[in-house]
Amino acid sequence: MAKKVVSPARRLSGGISVPGDKSISHRVVILAALAEGLSEIHNFSPAADCRSTLDCLRRLGVKIEVREEKSQAHGPESADGGYPSLRIRGAGLAGWKKPGRTLDAENSGTTMRLLAGALAGQPFASKMTGDASLRRRPMRRVIEPLEQMGARIRSREGGFAPLEIAGSPLQSIQYAMPVASAQVKSAVLLAGLFAQGSTAVLEPVRTRDHTEIAMREFGATVRRAGNRVELAGGARLRGREIVVPGDLSSAVFLVCAALILPDSNLLLAGVGLNPTRSAVLDFLVQMGAPLRIAQLEERHGELIGNLEVVTGEGLRLRGGQVSPSGVPRLIDELPMLAALAPYTELGIEIRGAQELRVKESDRIAVLSENLRRMGARVEEFPDGMRVAGRAGADAAPPLHGAQVDPGGDHRLAMALAVAALGASGETTIRGAECAAVSYPSFFTDLDSLVQR
Ligand code: S3P
Repeated sequence: MAKKVVSPARRLSGGISVPGDKSISHRVVILAALAEGLSEIHNFSPAADCRSTLDCLRRLGVKIEVREEKSQAHGPESADGGYPSLRIRGAGLAGWKKPGRTLDAENSGTTMRLLAGALAGQPFASKMTGDASLRRRPMRRVIEPLEQMGARIRSREGGFAPLEIAGSPLQSIQYAMPVASAQVKSAVLLAGLFAQGSTAVLEPVRTRDHTEIAMREFGATVRRAGNRVELAGGARLRGREIVVPGDLSSAVFLVCAALILPDSNLLLAGVGLNPTRSAVLDFLVQMGAPLRIAQLEERHGELIGNLEVVTGEGLRLRGGQVSPSGVPRLIDELPMLAALAPYTELGIEIRGAQELRVKESDRIAVLSENLRRMGARVEEFPDGMRVAGRAGADAAPPLHGAQVDPGGDHRLAMALAVAALGASGETTIRGAECAAVSYPSFFTDLDSLVQR
């Protein structure tokens, strides 16, 4: 297991385009594989999670050609060209073949839950598994609605992977989701492609809408009224050319690095700014972060723009409170916000985020433990945490370097690396290579931007 030593940095300066959005990449590649005809996907995410989806689709007989690889450090001008492009020849909803072997989603919850939806309506049986972390994550949340649609799914005791999906004719449902989860919504909508009639999902709180947007791009009719999403049955999807926006969830690590280091200057080109994902930017701005968005445009239904951070010498971030209703719109950014908290005045409190306990790790427990090792003052709640700032009643002294262990969780490895940039002394991150689950070039990109 590789260790990564992160030394304190002085400032951050430069421009970069972050890799393609992981969430969107999963969706467009699955839909391209279900569509008729050729699709070309540009700026596809190099995340290991998205490779898992590609591997599963290949095992299902889908022809995927990777046309270019990211070759070297890239500037903002290469937003569309620096990362892999794919060509996918879809054979339509009935075009997948029974896999010869178990499908392995590895660390990727999105792969397993979205493919469960697409596999439920196939005329063949399939089995899906994942790594130790994914086999501990709750799958009942997708099994239940899919069974209501007529799917037959066997899981390990308690609703855990491996999943054995028999494949059967499906009927449409109206499903009120008990948890706010874009993965569950997407699984139901993907299964809805195989059902007669309209399939509707009611969300308790609005979650990311990339599936709805991508389905429309591929030719399906998807309507939204308030928190209700409805897919018209009998859709025929057509192959398309799509450019995936840069991943905001990856960009946020670099943005926060710039906020921690005084006199920084960062330009991130071509970042996805879908409003169901961008709550983290609103939160940072409310705390006083000097963020600027330029060249905002819509591409294939998704908002995209350049993100700029220019910090002065004496930047003070106020701190704040993440409210339960806001959680789904910044769920993946919460680890970074928690690790940013010691650099704010009043600290950050996160509540209503019990979902963090069933992510790639128990993010509340693992983060609390590691931030404390770096000297942070952390209070843990069943549904969140409070990390003290540097002023205020519970103020903590500045962070210091430490030996940390993100427990194989990519977002925690990156959040701790960013916190380490402003700490005194070196921080050693155990198993830091797990960053590749979402952002393989994270440490190279960070090194190219920081000045020590
Ligand atoms: C995702 C949805 C979220 C998020 C995950 C990606 C997606 O999970 O945390 O990283 O691509 O749909 P939930 O659906 O479990 O909230």
